[in-house]
Amino acid sequence: MMRPSSAQFLRSAMDPAHFPRDGKPEIAFVGRSNVGKSSLLNALLGRQEMARTSSTPGKTQCINFFEIDRRYYLVDLPGYGFAKVPKAVKDAWNRLMHQYLSDRETLRLAVLLLDARHAPSEADMGMLGMLEDNAIPTLIAATKADKLSNNQLQSSLKTMRKTLELDAEALVVPCSTVTNRGVKEVWQVVLDQVKRGFEI
Ligand code: GTP
Ligand code: MG
Repeated sequence: MMRPSSAQFLRSAMDPAHFPRDGKPEIAFVGRSNVGKSSLLNALLGRQEMARTSSTPGKTQCINFFEIDRRYYLVDLPGYGFAKVPKAVKDAWNRLMHQYLSDRETLRLAVLLLDARHAPSEADMGMLGMLEDNAIPTLIAATKADKLSNNQLQSSLKTMRKTLELDAEALVVPCSTVTNRGVKEVWQVVLDQVKRGFEI
């Protein structure tokens, strides 16, 4: 597996004025709070604590940009679907996500993370809809696969595909940052999309 030789935190943005404007291709990680976005990012980069992980949902409230090999960005988006936050925070999340997704020409791929143990929520379906509306290529990563038996995982993946009405060719990659399952596959798709970005 090709690991990046350099990865560094660029900045946290809560406003489009702070999004990078240098035209480098970008891969975004989206999913509900606590689903494992920051953990997967760290696993991909082979860094322990590049993106901050937390057992407290809703920890990542801004958009975090990581610059990889000086050529592209991996982007940790704030989680959604956390129950106990004020409406103002949810509204701010919605506004920021719309601002980001609707006007990001450099965005080559969204990795949508869904907890392998649960059927997709309304919020997950809304998120997928938002990605489809903006015609953003999407890879689904079913996280925390280590917490399920193989049978449970297969049945969960089936439910996921059915609930989201996925096409037969849509890729769903079971992942675990505990066993490293799926990390290589996700990385391959990420790199393919980054390369496509350079051909344009
Ligand atoms: P927000 O930043 O709040 O949106 O959360 P996040 O999606 O970035 O989740 P984060 O990576 O912080 O992980 C949340 C919790 O799930 C942490 O306690 C992680 O250790 C745990 N976790 C993440 N991935 C896995 C996994 O593959 N397996 C298991 N068993 N636990 C995981
Ligand atoms: Mg996070």
